[in-house]
Amino acid sequence: MTHTPPSGPINYHYTVVRQFSIATIIWGIVGMLVGVFIAAQMAWPALNFDIAWLSFGRLRPLHTNAVIFAFGGSALIGSSYYVVQRTCQTPLAFPKLAAFTFWGWTLVILLAAITLPLGLTTTKEYAELEWPIDILITVVWVSYAIVFFTTVARRTTSHIYVANWFYGAFILAIAMLHVVNNLEVPVSAWKSYSLYGGGIDAMVQWWYGHNAVGFFLTAGFLAMMYYFVPIQAGRPVYSYRLSIVHFWALIAVYMWAGPHHLHYSSLPDWVQSLGMVFSIVLLAPSWGGMINGVMTLSGAWSKLRTDPIIRFMIVALSFYGMSTFEGPMMSIKTVNALSHNTDWTIGHVHSGALGWVAMITMGCMYVLIPRVFNRQGMYSTAWIYTHFWLATIGTVLYIASMWVSGLMQGLMWRAVNADGTLTYSFVQEMEARFPYYVVRLVGGTIFFLGMLLMAWNVWKTLREENNDRNESNLAAA
Ligand code: HEM
Ligand code: HEM
Repeated sequence: MTHTPPSGPINYHYTVVRQFSIATIIWGIVGMLVGVFIAAQMAWPALNFDIAWLSFGRLRPLHTNAVIFAFGGSALIGSSYYVVQRTCQTPLAFPKLAAFTFWGWTLVILLAAITLPLGLTTTKEYAELEWPIDILITVVWVSYAIVFFTTVARRTTSHIYVANWFYGAFILAIAMLHVVNNLEVPVSAWKSYSLYGGGIDAMVQWWYGHNAVGFFLTAGFLAMMYYFVPIQAGRPVYSYRLSIVHFWALIAVYMWAGPHHLHYSSLPDWVQSLGMVFSIVLLAPSWGGMINGVMTLSGAWSKLRTDPIIRFMIVALSFYGMSTFEGPMMSIKTVNALSHNTDWTIGHVHSGALGWVAMITMGCMYVLIPRVFNRQGMYSTAWIYTHFWLATIGTVLYIASMWVSGLMQGLMWRAVNADGTLTYSFVQEMEARFPYYVVRLVGGTIFFLGMLLMAWNVWKTLREENNDRNESNLAAA
C-alpha cells in the first residue's frame, strides 16, 4: 500500500465523535443512577414497591447493559472514531455509515431500556437482549467495523499506531463473541432459546462473558489509554516494544480463561484447571500494559500535582493493576471456593468497572470533549479536581465494603459446628451484610454525584462563550 502524506489541512469528521461523547455522559448518568437504585434495593428490598418492572431482577440487567454497552460502548466507539482519524492522518471513511452507527446504537440502547424492565430476556448474563435486537446489534457492529477498518486502510501514515490495534481487536472479538453466543432459535417475536444445551451452553456463555470483560472492558479502554495518556502527559508511550508484546500476549491468553467462571460446575475438571492456568498467566500481560501506561509519566510525575486529568488516568491504571491482580487470585480454585457467589466478586467487578473503566473514560472525555467541540479546555478545572476525589472516594467505599462483606459471607457459609451442622443460617448471614450494603450505597451515590458534576462541567463548557479554539489550533491539537 502506498501512503500519500496529506497536502493541506485534513477535514476530520467530528460530528459523530461529538454525538458519542455526549451519549457517554448521558448514559453514564442513567446507568449509574440505576446502579444506585438497585444498591438501595439490596439494603431495603421494599424499594421495588411491588411493581414488576421496578424489581431487582429486571433492573439489574438494565444497569449492566446501560453501564457496559451504553456508557462504555459510546465512549469506545466515539473515541475510536477520533483516534483512528488522528493517528491515521485521514478523515473518517463513510461519514454517513458512521452516523448510522450512532443512531443504530442509540436505538439498541432504547430497545434494551424498554425490553429489559418488561422482563423480555434471553437470561444469558450480558447477552440478555432478545433476537431482533441481536440482529440490529450485528448490523450496527458490521457497519462500525467497515468505517473503522476502511479508515485504517486509507491512512497516510506508514504504520498503524498501537491504539488502533487494540480498537481493532476489540471490534473483531466482540463481533465473533456476539454472533457465537447469540445463536438462538426464535419461537416468537420476543422469545428465543439458545442453540446450545446444558454444559455447552454454560461454556459458550462464559467464553463470551469473560471475553466481554477482556475485549470490551479491557482491550478497548487500553486503546483509549494508549492514545490519551501520552497526549495528556505530553510524552511518548514508555515502551513501544512493550506495547506490542502486551497486545499479542493479552489477546492470545484472554480467550482461554473463561472457565474460571464455572469452577466446581459440571464442566470437565481439566477445562476448569486450564481456565485457571490461563487466568494466572494473564497477570503478566495485564501488568505489562499497566506498567507501560504508568511509566509513560516517568520524568513528568510532577504533572500529578497539577493536572487532575492525569490523576484520573493514573488512578484508573492503578485500579486496572489491582483488579487484574485480584482476578487471577480469584481464579485459583481454592480461592474461588470462598469468593464465588459472594460480594467479593461484586467488589472485584467494580474495582475494574468504577476504578478502571469509568475513571479512564472520564479522564479521556475531559481531553476529548473540548477538542471536538472546538473549545480551549473544560469550563472548570476545580470541578475536575472535585470530581476526581468524588470518584476515588466513591470507588474505595464501594469496593472495600464489598470485599469485607464478601469475605464475611464466604466464611459464614462454610463455618461448621463440632457436630457438623452449619454455624449460621442463610438469613443470619444475609442480615450481617446489611451495614456493608449501606456503605456501598453511600460510595455509589458519591461516585454518581461526581458523574453529575462532570455533566454540569461539560454543559458549561459547551455553553461558554469566548472559549472557541480557532481552526489552526484544532488541527494542531
Ligand atoms: C454509581 C455507580 C454504580 C453503582 C452504585 C453500581 C451498583 C451495582 C449493584 C448494586 C449491582 C448488583 C450487585 C449484586 O447483584 O449483588 C451491580 C452489578 C454490576 N455492575 Fe454496577 N454499579 C455502578 C457502576 C457500574 C459501572 C460504571 C459498571 C461498568 C462499567 C458496572 C458494572 C456492573 C456489572 C458488570 C455488574 C454485574 C456483576 C456480576 O454479575 O458479578 N457498574 N452494580
Ligand atoms: C487478569 C485479569 C482478570 C482475571 C483473571 C479475572 C478473573 C475473574 C474471576 C475468577 C471472577 C469470578 C468468577 C466467579 O467466581 O464467578 C471474575 C469475575 C468478574 N470479573 Fe474479572 N478478572 C480479571 C479482570 C477483570 C477486569 C479488568 C474487569 C472489569 C473491567 C473484570 C470484570 C469481571 C466481571 C464483570 C465479573 C463478574 C462476572 C459475572 O459473574 O457476572 N475482571 N473475574
